[in-house]
Amino acid sequence: VKDVGILAMDIYFPSTCVQQEALEAHDGASKGKYTIGLGQECMAFCTEVEDVISMSLTVVTSLLEKYQVDPKQIGRLEVGSETVIDKSKSIKTWIMQIFEESGNTDVEGVDSTNACYGGTAALFNCVNWVESSSWDGRYGLVVCTDSAVYAEGPARPTGGAAAIAMLIGPNAPISFESKFRGTHMTHVYDFYKPNLASEYPVVDGKLSQTCYLMALDSCYKRFCSKFEKFEGKQFSISDADYFVFHSPYNKLVQKSFARLYFNDYLRNSSVVEKDAREKLEQFSNLTGDESYQSRELEKVSQQVSKPLYDAKIQPSTLLPKQIGNMYTASIYAAFASVIHNKYSTLMGQRIVMFSYGSGLSSTMFSFKLQDGQHPFNISNIATVLNVSEKLEKRHVIPPENFVETLKLMEHRYGAKDFETSKDTSLLSPGTFYLVNVDSMYRRYYAKK
Ligand code: ACO
Repeated sequence: VKDVGILAMDIYFPSTCVQQEALEAHDGASKGKYTIGLGQECMAFCTEVEDVISMSLTVVTSLLEKYQVDPKQIGRLEVGSETVIDKSKSIKTWIMQIFEESGNTDVEGVDSTNACYGGTAALFNCVNWVESSSWDGRYGLVVCTDSAVYAEGPARPTGGAAAIAMLIGPNAPISFESKFRGTHMTHVYDFYKPNLASEYPVVDGKLSQTCYLMALDSCYKRFCSKFEKFEGKQFSISDADYFVFHSPYNKLVQKSFARLYFNDYLRNSSVVEKDAREKLEQFSNLTGDESYQSRELEKVSQQVSKPLYDAKIQPSTLLPKQIGNMYTASIYAAFASVIHNKYSTLMGQRIVMFSYGSGLSSTMFSFKLQDGQHPFNISNIATVLNVSEKLEKRHVIPPENFVETLKLMEHRYGAKDFETSKDTSLLSPGTFYLVNVDSMYRRYYAKK
């Protein structure tokens, strides 16, 4: 099999969102903290009728329909999520309902969990399956679904929610350059969910930022050395047309690209021109630790890499800025933004991806884009994603109602014996929603 990768994609995000500018004012944060400081515009959230299960049912149904894929044609289904509902019962088993209906229960795969990295683990599993001797010729399907909610405080504006589905198979318009993967995994307590009675994580925000940047450096070095080994030449940021990062909030993405640029400077890459070289020279002797703490380096490297940021990063920032952190779906929503913005010029281009999940797991890998056959081609994927219309159709909810919803969900989390409002007035047709949870904690959904 050749060119295994992503054949088709679809995204679903709740149509309910809160504006960061309004949230800032509501929270009493200084003006500009969430919008300029974090770089965010809007944040999607699930109301009491939606959750990670309903979103994944919605997005899988939509993908199968829009690309006219027969559910019998799926041989593996992998879910990445860090939003635990039934704990031992995977979200994958929930999605099996769609396949059972057409008589297909012969579907391998379960859930992968490690913070925002689970979707990448699921994706690798599906790609590896298609490339393996146990592949039966059918498609793989990857679902990334998460609802990111934080306790009141500085992390709250970095929430979000979405589900993404990706169809995996050979001769894909978005194929893996599997040789170039660079991975970095270590043990660290930067973000985790030890309190099983709460949906909120315990988070050491500052530590998580440093861990993210250290993981980025390490993955980039490994990615570069693999590239050099197989291609016989040095890799630099000029060898990729776009970089797509896991995006908890946009400011970290800005810092990440500046960090790659600084790496290229330290590696004497010709992409760093003379005037930038002169400005960065003062930082060349910093130790690794010092360099993560240096505000001055952060500022200067962001400034000198700005033109390249605009060209290679900006197109990926649309959905993460508008929706917020979607945990496992975040990096793939950023990727979907590139497809949405650049679909007509992507043929033959390379996109480098950086996936990060606290705890921590991280990998840098790359895609090569090429023409595909309808319906599995880039411009049709852009049509199905339908990003502009989905964003335009959203309902802006006042911060007070957003906070009220989160309070209600704190009580509902892990609860049994309740009915939802079944208010579907804000949902698009075809959206699944939660109806009730019975005395045995069994959940019931319906479709609008
Ligand atoms: N106008 C403009 N900018 C402002 C303003 C203002 N009025 N006020 C603050 N800022 C800037 C700050 O200078 C800072 O930017 P900088 O880092 O470039 O200096 C930024 O806004 C954020 O301000 P901080 O004071 O650093 O924010 P705080 O510590 O309150 O919270 C944090 C930020 C740590 C990211 C928090 O939201 C959090 O914990 N989020 C969850 C963890 C997370 O997402 N980690 C990322 C990797 S792990 C993961 O994906 C879950």
